[in-house]
Amino acid sequence: MGIETMNHSVLVTRQIPGESLQRLREVCEVEVWPEAIPPSRDELCRLVKGRHGLLTMLSDRIDGELMDVAGDQLCVVSNYAVGFNNIDVDAAKTRGVAVGNTPDVLTDATADLAVSLLFAASRHVLQAGNQVCEGEWKTWEPTGWLGVEPSGKTLGIVGMGRIGKATAKRLVGGWDMNLLYTSRSDQGDVEKELGGRRVELDTLLAESDFVSVHVALTDETRNLIDADAIGKMKSTSVLVNTARGEIVDQDALVDALNSRAIFAAGLDVTTPEPLSADHALVKSPHCVILPHIGSATHTSRNAMSEIAVDNLIAGLAGKPLRCSVI
Ligand code: DGY
Repeated sequence: MGIETMNHSVLVTRQIPGESLQRLREVCEVEVWPEAIPPSRDELCRLVKGRHGLLTMLSDRIDGELMDVAGDQLCVVSNYAVGFNNIDVDAAKTRGVAVGNTPDVLTDATADLAVSLLFAASRHVLQAGNQVCEGEWKTWEPTGWLGVEPSGKTLGIVGMGRIGKATAKRLVGGWDMNLLYTSRSDQGDVEKELGGRRVELDTLLAESDFVSVHVALTDETRNLIDADAIGKMKSTSVLVNTARGEIVDQDALVDALNSRAIFAAGLDVTTPEPLSADHALVKSPHCVILPHIGSATHTSRNAMSEIAVDNLIAGLAGKPLRCSVI
């Protein structure tokens, strides 16, 4: 494979952890964007020209126009993420470009973070900690920082895929929660193992004390959690989103938090990313926001690098990708 691909040229749009780029350099010419901030659209257009493969991040928009700028020799786009909403997969298909992603290896890390956010939002962990850092902690208060508890309550998982399941396992097993979920199909194993019940989204929102979002971003799920949906939630409920920011209508969420229509929210994803420090959600005392770190563990990110490089090498050689989305 090395000999066939030696003249191939690939662009890696950010430094990635682990040793896998070394393997890539052994089979083709590699250019890695050296900055911590992603290349601008113009820079990306300049950089992709003549490449056979691209190893891209979720922050890079890879559409038909960009593929055309790259040229007909482009044969593979390997996304360093499980989500691939940043890639126009139809455009890739019509141009014969293979598209890969990095599923499974970030499931545990992302589920762990969903649970962390659930607790952080429920117990004001960030805001209370900031009070200490800012020297504002005056005394132990019997009525200060009162939160809500998940034990024995109802958990609603929106999208029972790999990460939804892993999140449910942690919370049902660890905190004895009752489980409701939405899914395109019945998940027999979930019902058997976790006693979950598949319901319509409206029922899930109305009956859950904690709602955790795990659907992929598509045209169908954009703004799925809009004002109407949030309006169905309990005033004591907590919303967690570790999937994609565009699934939640942020203006509606701001209104709901300000009017105390829901108790709190924990977000690892926003629109846009980064969200400005002036944004009402960042300012809200009822919202915890993290900078999209769901998969940010050494184990997950190293494993993502391995899969992304495997996908790229296979695609350059015209072989089936290890993890293909097409
Ligand atoms: C993904 O992989 O899609 C996550 O959002 C980033 O780790």
